[in-house]
Amino acid sequence: MASTKAVPVSLPEISFLPYNRSLIGEEEIDAVVQVLRSGWLTTGARTREFEAAFARYVGASHTVALNSCTAALHLALAAIGIREGDEIILPTMTFAASGEVIFYLGARPVLVDCLPNSFQLDPEQVERKITNRTRAILPVHFAGAPCDLERLCDLAKRHNLRVIEDAAHALPTRYKGRMVGTFGDITCFSFYATKTLTTGEGGMVATENPEYAETIRRLSLHGISKDAWKRYSAEGSWRYDILEVGYKYNMTDLQAALGLAQLAKCDAMLERRVYIANCYDRLLQSFDGFTTLPVPPYIEHAWHLYIVQVNHEALTINRDRIIEELKNRGIGTSVHFIPLHLHPLYQNRLGYREGDFPNAEERFSRAISLPIYAAMSGEDISRVMDALADIEHEFHR
Ligand SMILES: Cc1ncc(COP(=O)(O)O)c(C=O)c1O
Repeated sequence: MASTKAVPVSLPEISFLPYNRSLIGEEEIDAVVQVLRSGWLTTGARTREFEAAFARYVGASHTVALNSCTAALHLALAAIGIREGDEIILPTMTFAASGEVIFYLGARPVLVDCLPNSFQLDPEQVERKITNRTRAILPVHFAGAPCDLERLCDLAKRHNLRVIEDAAHALPTRYKGRMVGTFGDITCFSFYATKTLTTGEGGMVATENPEYAETIRRLSLHGISKDAWKRYSAEGSWRYDILEVGYKYNMTDLQAALGLAQLAKCDAMLERRVYIANCYDRLLQSFDGFTTLPVPPYIEHAWHLYIVQVNHEALTINRDRIIEELKNRGIGTSVHFIPLHLHPLYQNRLGYREGDFPNAEERFSRAISLPIYAAMSGEDISRVMDALADIEHEFHR
């Protein structure tokens, strides 16, 4: 009888270039180890230090560190007094988090389309969606490029609305020379693992309004009285008052230590991403099957995402197949985002349908996010472009 034992076949190894990898050096490791050795792991002195350093970096008067940008968006809406029945206008082209926080408060997300040939929300459509129930605009600085903040803030002022910026992608981003973080009423940042500054999970609100900051701080720790986090230290007291229903959204000193070390290299990491984006831009000029969208001259892009648009007219395979082909060539990618109105939650609860936002659907159907992160080498950049060139060659019409 023939043996059923499998014969090992040796295939050449293709090393996989992940879609994202954090740049973690000895500085981050030492900073976290120091916190571990200190005996105090949760919110404390390191968190306050991170808040102060971040405030200086973006030029904001008040910052509160939290455990995610989702928490930041939730508490920002709570701080401006959003309640049941209120309407918040936001782009359909965003992640689940931007919309779900509106549901948390019993309010209604009102979606708008992208500008033509852009991933950014269309301010004209925002204006058209304003009703007497609208309370706020929630713009998303998609991919790390700011929305038209002047226009949106002016619109908000004229209609007495608040602006809560979803800046999950926008660190560091400049609009007309000024850092994102002080334009709207409250700006919310993300330090999720793939973001341009990471604490593993984490977020931050920045605001010029001390009352908003204090409300957010209180709500982030069970709605209990000021400086509750100090209650185990010599400066604090065991006594506290529960003032309102709060949440458990505080950042830990372990995360803050990581954040401080990352903040120190934030500009250098941006420089690297700008270099990668410039390389991609330049190399893509010779492609038929892939293009990029133009960047307005008055912005400085954080390059959290680099998105190529598939030119389906030039290729025999679609976006989804191209992602598979890139994977087969060892390149990790992602897609940002499946527009909110295409998801069952938004269709079943709010009645949105496919076809409602044609610009967002067009962008989504062609989008592939390529790897772009400070830890990428020159060889990694070439591998991405070589893989695209190979696919274009093999599947050209
Ligand atoms: C546009 C946008 N907003 C909000 C978030 C939520 O961030 P976090 O994971 O820190 O809650 C994300 C996360 O990817 C995002 O892409």
